Amino acid sequence: MKEIYLAGGCFWGAEHYFRNIDGVVDTEVGFANGDTPSPTYEQVYTDTTGYAETVRVIYNPDALPLDELLRAFFCAIDPMSVNKQGEDEGTRYRTGVYYTDPADVPIAMEVFGEIQAGCSGPLAVELLPLKNFFVADGRHQDYLIKNPDGYCHLPLKIFRYPRLVSDLRHLLGDEPDMVARLSNAAALLKEKMGFFWVGFYLVGPAAPADAHGHGSPSPDGEELILGPFQGPFACMRIGYGSGVCGTAWKEARTVVVPNVEEFPGHIACSSASKSEIVVPVFKNSKVTGVLDIDSDELSTFDHIDAFWLQKYVSIL
Ligand code: SME
Repeated sequence: MKEIYLAGGCFWGAEHYFRNIDGVVDTEVGFANGDTPSPTYEQVYTDTTGYAETVRVIYNPDALPLDELLRAFFCAIDPMSVNKQGEDEGTRYRTGVYYTDPADVPIAMEVFGEIQAGCSGPLAVELLPLKNFFVADGRHQDYLIKNPDGYCHLPLKIFRYPRLVSDLRHLLGDEPDMVARLSNAAALLKEKMGFFWVGFYLVGPAAPADAHGHGSPSPDGEELILGPFQGPFACMRIGYGSGVCGTAWKEARTVVVPNVEEFPGHIACSSASKSEIVVPVFKNSKVTGVLDIDSDELSTFDHIDAFWLQKYVSIL
């Protein structure tokens, strides 16, 4: 087992998030890298003690390598925000990764570099050795389990996704049939997240007459063909680079669309669809299909859905 100390804003929500991730063995909330010994919550709350609200995360590196854990951590913070996460402000809500094993530094630096490359400004996240850590009193441990309606700066979906990934892994087991796997993957997402439409389009040979397709086949003569899904009936064939699905396929990247009417070339299978996310499914670095999710509300999807849905499809 290994340990790392992660400061991600209010520790109530941060702990609840980490404890749901497969490979995390134990969590404990407390105060890290401050000045005075044995601070109380009330003292730290004055924001004069130098401490950051921090979660001690014990994890199994075979099940959850540090780089993966850190990527999940970054998914739950605003990495450019200085001393503020959600509505919580103060130095106690600063973000940081505090290590006890110097061997963690190069791994962390690699992930920091990756995240920095995708940001428009400097990261506000500390990467430092752990100087000190004092466990917070019992009221603050597992706070959101004891107080399910308690305050949390994180959106609820961030607690659901790690469990969903874990459920999918158990549900699929070693079933070899792809139709069976994709069918249950669509059903699980639909049932647990309540999305309007969830389904897969798979890369396959273009129809000879291409009578019902949107757009043109790829240079290899392939197009996306409707696969297992949950929700209203949908268009069956989508060309290379066409619509949101064809774009995600061609560009081999996740596409988040807050308002489908503003996406050039969006293919409206249903007029009820308002926002959408499409995540490519890879096999040997080649896109073999896409996971497409439609919502009947605007702006349903963001970087949290993108991060966790990429994990979700990686199990397939
Ligand atoms: N809207 C998609 C087409 C598929 S349906 O949403 C099920 C697109 O633009 O690619």
